Amino acid sequence: APAASGEVPAHAGPAQRRTSKLAIVGAGAVGSTMAYAALMRGAARHVALFDINKAKVEAEALDLGHGIQFMSMAEVVGSDDIAVCADADVVMFTAGAKQKPGQTRTDLAEATINLVSKVLPSIVEVAPHAVYVMVTNPVDVVTYAALKISGLPPQQLFGSGTVLDSSRLRYLLARHTGVAVQNVHAYIAGEHGDTELPLWSSASIGSIPLLEWQGVGEGASLTGAVRDQIAREVVESAYRIIEGKGATNYAVALAGSRIIEAIIKDERRVLPVSSLLTDYHGISDVCLSVPSIVGSAGVLEQLPIPMSVDELSGMRASATAVREVAKRFGY
Ligand code: LAC
Repeated sequence: APAASGEVPAHAGPAQRRTSKLAIVGAGAVGSTMAYAALMRGAARHVALFDINKAKVEAEALDLGHGIQFMSMAEVVGSDDIAVCADADVVMFTAGAKQKPGQTRTDLAEATINLVSKVLPSIVEVAPHAVYVMVTNPVDVVTYAALKISGLPPQQLFGSGTVLDSSRLRYLLARHTGVAVQNVHAYIAGEHGDTELPLWSSASIGSIPLLEWQGVGEGASLTGAVRDQIAREVVESAYRIIEGKGATNYAVALAGSRIIEAIIKDERRVLPVSSLLTDYHGISDVCLSVPSIVGSAGVLEQLPIPMSVDELSGMRASATAVREVAKRFGY
């Protein structure tokens, strides 16, 4: 419609109209599944896969491209040339060492940080305005190191954090209470790892505070013992899946796709992503997950979630554990 002044506003011509571009670094199980999930959800018009393994990355892109007829229009390319990431709006960093049965995420720190320091600067050079999301483990330490390596502002580079863990928590709570997972509002905070913690005191199910949930129908109540068991199952989830199938990929890729949409569509969605904390409940200079507003500029706000005394001490323990690993590798 003509502008108030009556002139026709200058619009970018059709050829110049900006379309969204997602770049995924790493075409392994997580990266290629994330590309598939993003394409299926119509999250981006252009999807670029980068991996040093030329044959693999080209094959993944071709295999995905063959399915475009069955999803929203998109273009998929794969290359071992970093230039394929040029001008991306979002870069998902999934490349890194794979957690083997019996290994902890922290065991991957040295290999992953070395890889990030080798690859990330060249990607930032071709995509300086992208929002960067670190997915590779140990993701909180890797995010902190990537901020130092890239020099990007903490709003523009963050980690996938406990978005995945929070979906695991909600899955277990939904199954236990018999309520749809979409009506379970509960977050895992802290490290994406063994020191992560459920924020029970602020959780709710269908607008009932979770700690007051008495159970309905066959759905059971949530006693302290049940909550402790569910919290343990969340922490153990990845180990259990890795034991059984060698890696996790579906849920982490879907969690990544949710983050991609929040950025590309500027959703201002609340997600427990891992970002640099500064005086968050007194915690500073560490990357941990807290519920945050995510939009086109990255992490817009970290929400000041009220926490119980136990939750606060859990956050501090998580911060100490993550900081200790970062320091071990010079960050
Ligand atoms: C997991 C990996 C992504 O939790 O850390 O499945």
